[in-house]
Parts: sequence; C-alpha cells; structure tokens
Amino acid sequence: MNTAVSVPTDRLPLDVERIRADFPILSTKVHGKPLAYLDNGASSQRPRAVLDAERYYAEHLHANVHRGVHHLSQVATDAYEGAREKVRHFLNARSTKEIVFVRGTTEAINLVAQSFAVPNLKAGDEIIVSRLEHHANIVPWQLACERTGAKLVVAPISQAGELEIEAYAALFSARTRLVALSHVSNALGSVLPVRECIDIAHRHGVPVLIDGAQAVPHIPVDVQALGCDFYAFSGHKLYGPTGIGILYAREALLAAMPPWQGGGDMILSVSFEGTTYNELPFRFEAGTPNIAGAVGLGAAIDYVTSLGLPRIAAWEHELLLHATEELSAIDGLRIVGTAADKASLVSFVVDGVHPHDLGTILDQEGIAIRTGHHCAMPVMDFFGLPATARASFSFYNTRDEISRLAAAVVDACRLLR
Ligand code: ALA
Repeated sequence: MNTAVSVPTDRLPLDVERIRADFPILSTKVHGKPLAYLDNGASSQRPRAVLDAERYYAEHLHANVHRGVHHLSQVATDAYEGAREKVRHFLNARSTKEIVFVRGTTEAINLVAQSFAVPNLKAGDEIIVSRLEHHANIVPWQLACERTGAKLVVAPISQAGELEIEAYAALFSARTRLVALSHVSNALGSVLPVRECIDIAHRHGVPVLIDGAQAVPHIPVDVQALGCDFYAFSGHKLYGPTGIGILYAREALLAAMPPWQGGGDMILSVSFEGTTYNELPFRFEAGTPNIAGAVGLGAAIDYVTSLGLPRIAAWEHELLLHATEELSAIDGLRIVGTAADKASLVSFVVDGVHPHDLGTILDQEGIAIRTGHHCAMPVMDFFGLPATARASFSFYNTRDEISRLAAAVVDACRLLR
C-alpha cells in the first residue's frame, strides 16, 4: 500500500539538505571550516530564488515606479505593487492601502512614533512598552515622549523572560495612549502573548504596535486575527534583502496620520500655495523607493510560503530542543531566557568566559553566532549581564551544526578558563 500519497504535503518534514542547496552562501568555508550560520536573528541568508528575482528585476524590469508611461516604468510598477500584494496576503491585511514599504522595522516604528504618536500625545500621557524590547522599540518612543512630555511605562518580565501579563494589564490608566510590544524577543526568544496583550489594550481603547521583526520568519502572522493596529517587520530577517521592510497599519489610523516625509510620489499636486497628498499607502512613501528590495521581499515571501511556516516552525522547534539539551549539559553554561513559548534561539552565558571571547573562538571554527547586548540593553540589565552569546536558528540549520556549536563551546571553555 502506498501511504505516502495520503500525507498532506504541508505536514511532511522539511528536506533540509535540499533546502540548503537553495542557499549559495551556506556552502562557504570560514577559516577553512564549513560555515555553520547561527546568527539568523541578526540577518538571515537569501535563497537563490530571491537573488534571481533581484537580478531579473535589474536586468529586465528596472525603471522608476508610478511615474512613467513607458513600458519599463509600467512593468517596474507592476513588480513593485505585486510585491505589496504578496505582503498583504502574507499578513492577511484587508487592503494594500495598509501596507507601507519602509527601510525596515526601525523605520516603521519611527514612522508611527512621529506620525501617529507625536500628534496624539500630550504631557502626562503614557506609552506602554515591555522590558523585553529591542532598542528600535524603545528609542523612537523616547523621542516622541521628549517632544510631547509623555512618558514610557515599562511592563515587567519574569526570570524566565516572559511578560508578566497581570502586571502589564495593571499598567493601563486613562493616560495610556499606545502600547508597543515585540512579538518575539530578539535577545531571549520569548514569544509574547500578543493576542491577549492586544485584547487587554483594546478593552482600554488603546491601539497597539507589534514589532514582528523576529516573529515573521517563524510564526504565521494574521494581522486581522491578532487585531493589532500596527505591525512592523524587516525583509532581511525573512530571507529577503536588507533595506526593505513593512509597516502594516490599520487603514482608519493610517488615513488620519499626517505624512512624515515630504517629496515625490507622496503628493497629488504641489504649488507654493499648498500641497495635496497622495492616497494610501503612497502618502507614506516619499521619494524613489527600494523597488528591487520590494521585489526581493516578494520572492522571499513566496519561498517561505512554499516551505510553509508550520513546517518551518516544527523543524526549528526541534532544533531549539536539541540546542537546549546539548548546551544545558555543558558545565557552567546557563541559558538566559527559558520562556515556555520560545522561538528558535538560545541566549547563554558561560562561567568565567566572556561572550565576545567565545564568539571569536567559535568563529575560528566557522560557527557564526552573535555576542553582545543584542540592542536590548534593558533586558541585559534585568539579568545583571553585560552581554550574552546568542545562537539563532533557521529552517536551513541542522542538528549537526548545533552539535558542532556545543562541542566548540566545550573546547573554548577549556581554552579560556
Ligand atoms: N536586531 C538584530 C538582532 O537581534 C540585529 O541581532
């Protein structure tokens, strides 16, 4: 009996070796050793399908968008707007009017801080963030607070690195104007209960921005099901190019926001007496955009979708369990961030070994990890640490790479202690 045909393809495990062949950089040697790329939280690698799409765009389609009647301008516009539709579908947004192309998560959050928060804040108002946030989801709000006299209120986390949801719920008051939370902590991997957090905020009539930079490569995101008001992510952590990212914003909110940058493409007409602005989402995309980046992001979304996020999540979870088991067995190693719901990354410290020294020695073995404060200094302060070592996994990583990591950490400890 042939049972294979009855297994739905979306449940079959990923063929990791075949997938690895799609990523030219993964066969690189570093210091004469095969590369084990375990720094996907900082930036993931691009499959050939993305590189090809960028190259095809440059060789066959490139011109400026929304501006010309000539053939190339029209095909470039189709490619750019086609990518926007792919993003809309990927996030299940209602309309492409809700999808703004930006440089990355950081720019998306700055856009909301300047164009939504600043005009709506006054002295004494409050913005809630969590202790887990990346600097990109702290500093733009601090800038908005400096300009308006509003203040940041910080939701606490537990020793496991989980959001203290009851303490979060208790922070709301008549002064709360906005909540900004990460979906997944870049420093610890904790997955925040964002649906619950959004529901709590909405019961108080407070809009919510979710920083999804570390979530979209691992978790299917449906902005309508989440009910979030803003959702931001970057292309380069989703197997796409750098310099392109997305702000999803609910249309009613975006329609009421003033433009934040002026220039070409965001206007309908300009005269010295006054300017009228373009419709959504173009009002928020002044100047020539990163067209090739958008096309590459569209191809990355196609690639990830073809593998299937549930299958990606299943394999990455296996990698997380394997890494947790192998690393925890190392004498003097402590994993920082032990949330019950965790994305595929492990932050850790080793007694008597500085993370930077560890990272440097692992590099000699061809193993790329990130060390430092991970642009999340308040999280490091909470744990009383200046830095951790962080290995962050993708669907193209293997159990063998993780075993190499663990063995190299053991060797490094022998050398450094
Ligand atoms: N935010 C990126 C990281 O976590 C750069 O490494």
